[in-house]
Amino acid sequence: MLKDAFGRVATDLRVSLTDKCNLRCTYCMPPEGLDWLPNAQLLTADEIVRLVRIGVERLGITEVRYTGGEPLLRRELVDIVARTAALAPRPQISLTTNGIGLARLAEPLAAAGLDRVNVSLDTLEPETFKRLAHRDRFADVIEGLGAAERAGLRPVKVNAVLMRDVNDHEAVSLLRFCLDHGYELRFIEQMPLDAQHGWDRATMITADEILDLLSAAFDLSPDDLEERGSAPAERFLVDGGPARVGVIGSVTRPFCGACDRVRLTADGQIRNCLFAREESDLKAALRSGATDDELAARWVAAVAGKRAGHGIDDPSFLQPARPMSAIGG
Ligand code: 5AD
Ligand code: SF4
Repeated sequence: MLKDAFGRVATDLRVSLTDKCNLRCTYCMPPEGLDWLPNAQLLTADEIVRLVRIGVERLGITEVRYTGGEPLLRRELVDIVARTAALAPRPQISLTTNGIGLARLAEPLAAAGLDRVNVSLDTLEPETFKRLAHRDRFADVIEGLGAAERAGLRPVKVNAVLMRDVNDHEAVSLLRFCLDHGYELRFIEQMPLDAQHGWDRATMITADEILDLLSAAFDLSPDDLEERGSAPAERFLVDGGPARVGVIGSVTRPFCGACDRVRLTADGQIRNCLFAREESDLKAALRSGATDDELAARWVAAVAGKRAGHGIDDPSFLQPARPMSAIGG
């Protein structure tokens, strides 16, 4: 098992398949993009599947989420999903994507064994989309969402990050859109994970503010039937239910105490937290001929050293050296 010193057990593995992306969301990366990892440093599909297999077979991983960067940019994605679905015990398989390319790939991914998707959508205004993501791809995302729904990747979840004076006027319209389409919307507080270090506590839209904005138009009641467990979203019934909305207060309502996640970066490093300051290099071990036993032992040690929390509110907080796109969301 992947257990840390605070008794938390990691069962949810997030695998970044590439650090590249076809958008440039301001909370993630600068408009000019980043210095992408050289291809030789990326794990190959075989290496990814081997590590995921070790996680599932030996270390108690029950859920595998593929992320990026933008995971749909990884050519072998369908194959990686199919090989993940063939593992025993079969893990739950999900994908976090910006939705571009999903119109084409939702069906083959579902056929390969993908269970669910989370699609990022921060605005319903094509102009705001362009300002926020620096690319004119709003229509592709909307098409992708529809394709995911039709392919049965349900419930289709939508992630939205609100930013002051950019899209914070859209909380209500985003929720209405998702309710109309049967998507489950979750608002995520913006975290200090952007490559340009532009995050500012004072301008972040907090969970409290999000709930205030929504309450102007909807009646929200805590969803008592849902065990929050390790799920980061606090869920609310909208107008009595059954529709729900989630709010992820990553900064102001941290859920580190119940965290069950561990991350594998696109270049083969185990990170025990988004905000970890150290990584554990499985790629070097793997490429120098380590056995499954040796890789599992390294992985166990990496998780054992997990800190109690992210400490974003701590004066000594240091933003991780790598941005979200390189870590895996
Ligand atoms: N803060 C909060 N959420 C972020 N995401 C990316 N960067 C940040 C950030 N700095 C979101 C994306 C996507 C998921 C991977 O995380 O919008 O939905
Ligand atoms: Fe791309 Fe996701 Fe970063 Fe946006 S948040 S630039 S979609 S990796």
